[in-house]
Amino acid sequence: MNVLRQPVPWDYEDVVQRYLRPADTVLDVGTGGGERLASLAGSFGHGLGIDIDPEMVRVATEQCAAGNLDFRVCSERLETVAETFDVVLNRHAPLDLAAVAAHLEPGGYFITQQVGEQNMACVKAALGQSAGPPPIARQTVSASGLRLLAFLDYDVEYVVRDITSLIFWLNALDPPHADIAGSVALASADTLNSILAGNVDERGFVTNEHRYLAVAQAGPR
Ligand SMILES: C[S@@+](CC[C@H](N)C(=O)[O-])C[C@H]1O[C@@H](n2cnc3c(N)ncnc32)[C@H](O)[C@@H]1O
Repeated sequence: MNVLRQPVPWDYEDVVQRYLRPADTVLDVGTGGGERLASLAGSFGHGLGIDIDPEMVRVATEQCAAGNLDFRVCSERLETVAETFDVVLNRHAPLDLAAVAAHLEPGGYFITQQVGEQNMACVKAALGQSAGPPPIARQTVSASGLRLLAFLDYDVEYVVRDITSLIFWLNALDPPHADIAGSVALASADTLNSILAGNVDERGFVTNEHRYLAVAQAGPR
């Protein structure tokens, strides 16, 4: 995709790398196709990726060649996960903080990046979607019993530079994998025109990317 994003204050994988040790056990909640977990797999001992979508689990199992990874169908409530972990990860997926806290080893780390409620605000406005509540807040992390180590967000300009990229991007956005249904945007010329109206300049289609990052730690034994 041909896009231009303004500089952002963190890179998710760089942040996660800082908390991984070679023997760690890692749980990735809402792992999707497992790509992120697989790219980190050289930095920990064993990883389990869970996802509510059996098709995602099938794809992850087929595509992730690393020998230290397993994938399982499960919801964010972690009802079929008996193990506890040194690190729990969650990127752009539903989150149950009580379940995360219950599945962390003493002193273990929880790291999440969440799509912010203001993400792609002009697209949501054109589709008549309201922003919704923030996906995560300092208070809810602290209320789960975890100690909050970092809580950040950014909201930066995101420019999709050509029509091929725009169509590809909108087609790739589908609940429950994204916060809007891109196919709705492409349903008619009128809808697409209302999204583009006022949001195109010489660089392309201008929208925004809003993300949260939270890092928290379980208490000692
Ligand atoms: C946007 S994708 C993110 C995938 C991956 N974490 C990544 O960063 O590339 C969200 C994933 O969460 C999964 N998901 C949606 N609802 C879920 C739930 N209630 N419990 C567990 N996984 C869920 C979806 O099937 C999807 O694979």
